Amino acid sequence: MFDNKRTVYVPQGDELDIAVACHRLQLPLMLRGPTGIGKTTFVYYLSSVLNKPLVEEVCTEDTLAADLVGRRLPDGWVDGSATSSLRHKDGAVYYLDELGEARPNAMTVVHSLTDDRRTLDVRVNGEVLRASDDWMLISSYNPLYQLQNNVKPSTAQRFITLDIPFPESELEERIVSEVIKGDSLITENVSVKKYKNNGNVPINKLVKLANDYRRLAQSAESVGLREGPGTRLVVRTAKLIGYGLSELRAIEVGMINPLTYDSEQKVGMTDIARKLFR
Ligand SMILES: Nc1ncnc2c1ncn2[C@@H]1O[C@H](COP(=O)(O)OP(=O)(O)OP(=O)(O)O)[C@@H](O)[C@H]1O
Ligand SMILES: [Mg+2]
Repeated sequence: MFDNKRTVYVPQGDELDIAVACHRLQLPLMLRGPTGIGKTTFVYYLSSVLNKPLVEEVCTEDTLAADLVGRRLPDGWVDGSATSSLRHKDGAVYYLDELGEARPNAMTVVHSLTDDRRTLDVRVNGEVLRASDDWMLISSYNPLYQLQNNVKPSTAQRFITLDIPFPESELEERIVSEVIKGDSLITENVSVKKYKNNGNVPINKLVKLANDYRRLAQSAESVGLREGPGTRLVVRTAKLIGYGLSELRAIEVGMINPLTYDSEQKVGMTDIARKLFR
């Protein structure tokens, strides 16, 4: 944990809106993008906007499940990063940086935390920890040099997924000048956009779309699509629409991005969605 009150972050788009929606809806968020475009900086900024402590684990190929869960040492039990994040009664932002690097068993540890259980089995210490309502899991990785295949579909489909691209030149100039100034964007001035809840979630169209994607995953036309969407993705996309995000944006971060990083595949899937949703 550290003082993140003075993190300078210049938003590229609606990343703060999506992240706040995920916090409210208790959904885990994955940030994807090339190196140095501000993923880590954004998480520091988010924890400051949400006013929650940040607990961070930087995953490497040596990261083990015990680093997340904890371990029993000769002189007693030592919490892992996930365990200690869950001990904050008023919630915390738990950040798994470079999740794609972690060993498969470390990734599997987070499965129960990323589905509706929101629990962590710390049986080795005789306890099962439940996340408080204000606890959020956020993760990031760089799909360009980490094989996307490193992250199994069963893990990838557990995260609302936001792609952060290289910024447009004009925006990048602003980012550089704000970062150089260093103190112009402290988070006290940030207002989080309010959304009007949508009581008319088009569930039947979402299910139809999911079936279109399942058929696509089985067809020869699918390039980077490894598996069709599970019902979890349909439910979570429906929640994002109910929260008030636009249908197509919710479908993008809730259903398309968790399934693929391939840009051609994403365009094709967005076109299919556009036929059903304006
Ligand atoms: N949108 C932004 N707002 C403010 N600073 C930014 C932004 N994007 C990049 N930066 C600057 O670029 C540097 C690198 O950003 P950061 O470490 O967050 O990248 P990253 O996406 O986490 O990279 P990696 O994948 O290598 O971990 C930061 O120290 C910050 O100065
Ligand atoms: Mg980083």
